[in-house]
Amino acid sequence: MSVAEAPALKVVESRLPKAGSCLLVIFGGTGDLTRRKLIPALYDLACIGCTNPNFDVLGLGRTPLSDDEFRERMHEGAAHSKDARNYSEDGWSDFARRLHYLVGDANKPEFYPELKKKIAAMQANGSSNNVLFYVSTPASLAPPIVEGLGASGLARNREGWTRIVLEKPFGHDLKSARELNEIVSRVFPEEAVYRIDHYLGKETVQNIIMFRFGNSMFEPIWNRNYIDYIEITAAETLGVENRAAFYEETGALRDMVANHLLQLLTLTAMEPPVAFDADSVREQKVQVLRAIRPMTANEVAQRTIRGQYGPGQIDGKPVPGYREEPGVNRNSRTETYVAVEFHVDNWRWAGVPFYVRAGKRLANPVTEIAVHFKRTPQALFARSPGDVHHNIIVMRIQPNEGIALNFGAKTPGSQMRASRVNMDFSYRDAFGSATPVAYETLMLDAMRGDATLFTRRDEVEAEWRIITPIEEAWQQLPPPEFPNYAASSEGPINADSLIQYDRHRWRSLKRDEAWSI
Ligand code: BG6
Repeated sequence: MSVAEAPALKVVESRLPKAGSCLLVIFGGTGDLTRRKLIPALYDLACIGCTNPNFDVLGLGRTPLSDDEFRERMHEGAAHSKDARNYSEDGWSDFARRLHYLVGDANKPEFYPELKKKIAAMQANGSSNNVLFYVSTPASLAPPIVEGLGASGLARNREGWTRIVLEKPFGHDLKSARELNEIVSRVFPEEAVYRIDHYLGKETVQNIIMFRFGNSMFEPIWNRNYIDYIEITAAETLGVENRAAFYEETGALRDMVANHLLQLLTLTAMEPPVAFDADSVREQKVQVLRAIRPMTANEVAQRTIRGQYGPGQIDGKPVPGYREEPGVNRNSRTETYVAVEFHVDNWRWAGVPFYVRAGKRLANPVTEIAVHFKRTPQALFARSPGDVHHNIIVMRIQPNEGIALNFGAKTPGSQMRASRVNMDFSYRDAFGSATPVAYETLMLDAMRGDATLFTRRDEVEAEWRIITPIEEAWQQLPPPEFPNYAASSEGPINADSLIQYDRHRWRSLKRDEAWSI
């Protein structure tokens, strides 16, 4: 049944635009991402009136399920997700009527004629002719899916538009990413391809562009003349959860740095685009990635640190080490922590290190970009130049979303003594808490045909051009002694040595220190 016939959900509020009609077909319909992220986000979009009344979802998977069983699985995901902010049982029963299911093996060519028949039957029953395919499967399934859609004619559509969203990881290294891009380009035009990196859907990440280019006061000092170094951190308290098979093959560098953190770096370092549209923004981001020279094995040895967590305590409860997690090899060499010093070799950034770190089971969840400015040339209010504080701008991506500017102020009293103080902008205080979550923004953009927040073909390849030499050098270098950090710590001790020259140091991940600068 088409949703055109379903009673309307109670519309709550919307800062977002509305999408046109769409049939969303999800490969990996029974997977974790669909249940935990996609369906709650779609439910919320429906609640705030952003999805068209003619919007249906067709989930695909290998587990035999009826439509009702599929709805029940999704129900459980939405009811427990904080992303479905306007959740109610009544709202869910309206929404659930939009969900449909087809069992099949997307690896087999014979599945695609069946899929075609199912889509045609749904469309004959009122579903939209605009079709959005969403590939949320292990990376190895993406090529057969794209080829299957091509061979069956499902990628062509005279009655409406067809687009494809590809989840990360997009390939495993430069070679596989190039091969996948080749396959995709034979079937879909580039403007129909949406490579998703959900970090780009976060409000705080988009705000990096607004902060830099929507204000006149920061851009003149946003360069090597004023900036000493930049830190980009994505620390999680979560462990590997139930994703051991995926994580064992992926590791922290591929999982977080190859996409999310490099995206944060490009937005922080890019030149102003001529306009805020897909090609202008992505062109500038690619230029940054091109300016990062791939490292030699020697440089990899000096500029990267790998870590793996051992047992420890999170929130007062004991947690196992990575090697003791279910499904993980007892001698695993997979890194759960990585720190890398990148250099952007261009006019603006020559000589400014970008220290990037990501890790699981760290002391606190902190994702932020800290821009450290150079010290004043003269120690006017300090005993020695070493005592001079430097200014820091911290863009807090999550949690406690906001931006802090740290500077010196005169401590009241008879002496000229400086204390460090903050000017602090908080999203919650300024805008309330109803900002859209990343997947809402991105799914809406894909339905509306706006690719600005998705990664372009050359961008993904440029990311792998930087990451693959690191992975290759790690294979050659002597393996580190794992585990080398305890769960709930700040990561491996030797990560400090990566950054510790010229008085550079990582910001603390401890809760009381993390926001104080
Ligand atoms: C995913 C990674 O892409 O991002 C996960 O595969 C990680 O390992 C997650 O936990 C982090 O996303 P967020 O939005 O919670 O920062």
